[in-house]
Amino acid sequence: MSASVPASAPVPAALPTPARPTAKPTSAELLDFVRRTAADTDLIASLPLDAEGRTWVRLEGPHGSEAWLISWPPGTGTGWHDHAESVGAFTTAAGTLKENSLAARLPTDGWKTLELTEGVDRERQLVTGQGRAFGRNHVHEVLNESTVQHAISVHAYYPPLPQIRRYSRTGAVLRLEHVERPEDWQ
Ligand SMILES: [Fe+2]
Repeated sequence: MSASVPASAPVPAALPTPARPTAKPTSAELLDFVRRTAADTDLIASLPLDAEGRTWVRLEGPHGSEAWLISWPPGTGTGWHDHAESVGAFTTAAGTLKENSLAARLPTDGWKTLELTEGVDRERQLVTGQGRAFGRNHVHEVLNESTVQHAISVHAYYPPLPQIRRYSRTGAVLRLEHVERPEDWQ
């Protein structure tokens, strides 16, 4: 017995549109998101500040990205780290942050210490309203060098951070110290 559909079978007038997979946000879209979020003065003002250490609130980023609102008391910083395979963006919403970064593509795995070549260091000051996007395996540290003023920033990463590798740095030598997983910061 044949199971074929007769040629005269009615065709539905309108087929449901297949669900589009969620678009992956680009780092430029993440930068646009953090800029718009940083301009939300009520949200920025709602973040509790603590003179003793950084405070943070998780935000809903675009297209399933991981986003954070972070405060930085004077003199605080992240230390050197990367965000593994995630792309990201951040912007200063209040105060000024300094970013030290490496303009170098580092091997992602299989090393414990690495001697950096000359000329890979980059430094930028991000005053209120200034931000930047970055690609995968971006190695940097972010600091609030002010002695008196808190800084506040907005960050977004996609995909949500699977891990953060933390490094120490002595001169030109970068040393992998430990790897943090999401349960360490969520
Ligand atoms: Fe970072």
